[in-house]
Amino acid sequence: MRKPFVAGNWKMNTDSSTSVQLAIDVVSCTSALAGDSVDVAVIPPFVYLKSVFDAVNNSSVSLGAQDIYFQEKGAFTGEISVAMLKDVGCTYVLCGHSERRHVIKENDELINKKLNASISGGLLPILCVGELLEERKAEQTTEIVTRQIKAGLEGIDAEKFSAVTIAYEPVWAIGTGLTATPDQAQQVHAMIRELIAGLYDGQIAKQVRILYGGSVKPDNAAELMALEDLDGLLVGGASLKAQDFGSIIAASV
Ligand code: PGA
Repeated sequence: MRKPFVAGNWKMNTDSSTSVQLAIDVVSCTSALAGDSVDVAVIPPFVYLKSVFDAVNNSSVSLGAQDIYFQEKGAFTGEISVAMLKDVGCTYVLCGHSERRHVIKENDELINKKLNASISGGLLPILCVGELLEERKAEQTTEIVTRQIKAGLEGIDAEKFSAVTIAYEPVWAIGTGLTATPDQAQQVHAMIRELIAGLYDGQIAKQVRILYGGSVKPDNAAELMALEDLDGLLVGGASLKAQDFGSIIAASV
């Protein structure tokens, strides 16, 4: 019922030629391996969005951005608006990625404004949530993820919520080679779905896609995708190698 969704977050990597080549390679892997059975997106740095869009245009691969600013336009030096992202062909945008939360120090309130602005402007936001290692050790995972989701979705009604994808990414698993065990991932994903049922309703909770992220690799993708409440993958490091990303896409079908 929920179509699998695999997105590759390139973070601050690639250059003008490698970004386009990677996009071309992802398009060919995707059409060869998965056809239309999975939604695939690539999420390059801002400056390569347009050239990557030209490379994926007319394919089933969509384009996403790593962040946005919530204001429409004006004196916000260094920021990028929803309209600008739409203008260069973006469909998706990450909101509240853990590196934005913990390195750049974005808070829940700002992330909520970004989510609201994305939906109002016609982008599909991917709300990223996840606990730090010390929070998991202190058994605060449910509390942290619940707070991030409730705050992130503040003011978003059921109709608007249909634009949202959620990504659970335990911070301790991002870029570390550590992955949540299937039990750990399923437990949090089920908790998130239950939370959504409480915030909206059971039908909406059944429809929302909840992705997992954190050291996803070709050799753990199938096991994760087999989990009942896990609908897709947000891939960092492994999305920079077309062959690995292709294997992850193939494992998600
Ligand atoms: P990783 O990154 O796959 O390199 O751990 C995931 C992410 O940050 O989305």
